[in-house]
Amino acid sequence: MFLSGVSWARACQFVRSSPQAFSPPQPSAPIATLATSPPLVHISYDVDATVIVREGAQTTMGKPRVYVTRMLPSQGLDLIHAFCDATVWEGELPPPHEVILRQTREADGLVSLLTDRVDGALMDACPRLRVVSNYAVGFDNIVIPDATARGIPVGHTPGVLTETTADFAFALLMAAARRIVEGADYVRAGQWKTWGPMLLMGSDIHHSTLGLVGLGRIGAEMAKRAQGFAMRVLYTDVVRREDLEASLGIEYAPLEDILARADFVSIHTPLTAETHHLMNRERFAQMKRGALIINTARGPIIDPDALLEALRSGHLGGAALDVTEPEPLPADHPLLTQPNCLVVPHIASASATTRGQMAEICARNLIAGLKGEALPAGLNPEALGTGRSALPRAW
Ligand code: DGY
Repeated sequence: MFLSGVSWARACQFVRSSPQAFSPPQPSAPIATLATSPPLVHISYDVDATVIVREGAQTTMGKPRVYVTRMLPSQGLDLIHAFCDATVWEGELPPPHEVILRQTREADGLVSLLTDRVDGALMDACPRLRVVSNYAVGFDNIVIPDATARGIPVGHTPGVLTETTADFAFALLMAAARRIVEGADYVRAGQWKTWGPMLLMGSDIHHSTLGLVGLGRIGAEMAKRAQGFAMRVLYTDVVRREDLEASLGIEYAPLEDILARADFVSIHTPLTAETHHLMNRERFAQMKRGALIINTARGPIIDPDALLEALRSGHLGGAALDVTEPEPLPADHPLLTQPNCLVVPHIASASATTRGQMAEICARNLIAGLKGEALPAGLNPEALGTGRSALPRAW
C-alpha cells in the first residue's frame, strides 16, 4: 500500500529532527525502521538517491520533490501538489538566492519566476534538478545553454499571454498619448476648475505611425490592434516576416527608419546581449521629436538615463513603461518625477484568466519534465533524454 499523503520529506522528518541537514545514505541501504502506528514503515534510497517508501511487504515510490518560488494561481499549484511533494515560497517578495539554493538542493524540479536567476552554478549546487519551469514567457533569467549542457529541460509560458499583453501595450499607448493618468491625477488633486481649450492636450492615435521593435507574437497582436485605429505600422526584427506583411498591413523598415518615422515606438523584443540598452542616447536622438515610447518587454532594453534625458529635454513626448531598469523602480527614481513618464509595475499579462493559464502551462511543463516527457512549451528540447533528464525516476 502506498504511504498515502505522506511525502518523502515528511517521512524523513520522522527519522531526523533536521531534514535540511539530511544527506542521502548509500544506495539501497535501509536507513530506518519506524515504529509508528503499525504497520512498520521502512525508508530507503534507490541508486540515484530517489526515495522509495515501503510499507509492510509492498513497495511504492515517492513523489518528486519540487521547489516553487512563489504562490501561483491554483490552476497550476493544484496540479503541482497532486503530482509532487512541493515546497512553495509564500512571501510576496522573491526568496533570496540562498533560500532558492537551499530549497532546491534536493529538489527534482524548480518552478522559477522572472525574478529568480537560474544558472549553471545553481544547477550544479542542485544535483538532482532535472527540470526548470519558468512562470513567464520571457526567460532571460535562465541561462538556457547551462541547462542544456546538463540535460535539464526548461519550460516557459508562451501563447496564453500574447493578446492580454498586446491589449495592455495598446492601453499604455493610449493612456500616454491622451494623458489619461495625468488627467485623472489632475482631477484627484482638485485642479479641475473649468473646461480649458488647451487643457492636457495630447497626441492623436488614429492615422499616426506605430513602429514595432520586434515582431513576435505580441508585436503581431499589437499590429492588429493598430489596424483598428487606421495607424500605419512599421516593424523591424532580426527576421523579416514577409508572410505577415500583407495580412497585418505592416511594412518592414530598419530600426533607424522606424525611429525617424514613428509617432509611437513599442518594444516587443526579448532581452538579450544584443538588445540590452538597445534604446540608448543615440537611438533616442534618432526618434522623431515629440514621439512616445512604450515598453512591455523587458526594462533593460531601454537605458533609463538616456530615456530621462530625452524626456527632460523635451525631445521625447512621453514614455509608458510596464517594465523598467531596475525593477522595481524605486519610488524616488527621477523618471517618476517626469509627468510624461507613466510607469506601472510589470502587469501587462496580469489578467486573472491569463495568469491562471500561465500557471497551468507552467505546471504541465514541470510535470512533463519530471516524467521525462517533452515539455508542452519547452525552450531546449534537445536537453531531453540527455544528462539529468535521463536519470532513472522513482515516481
Ligand atoms: C513574461 O511572461 O515574460 C512577462 O513579463 C510576465 O508575464
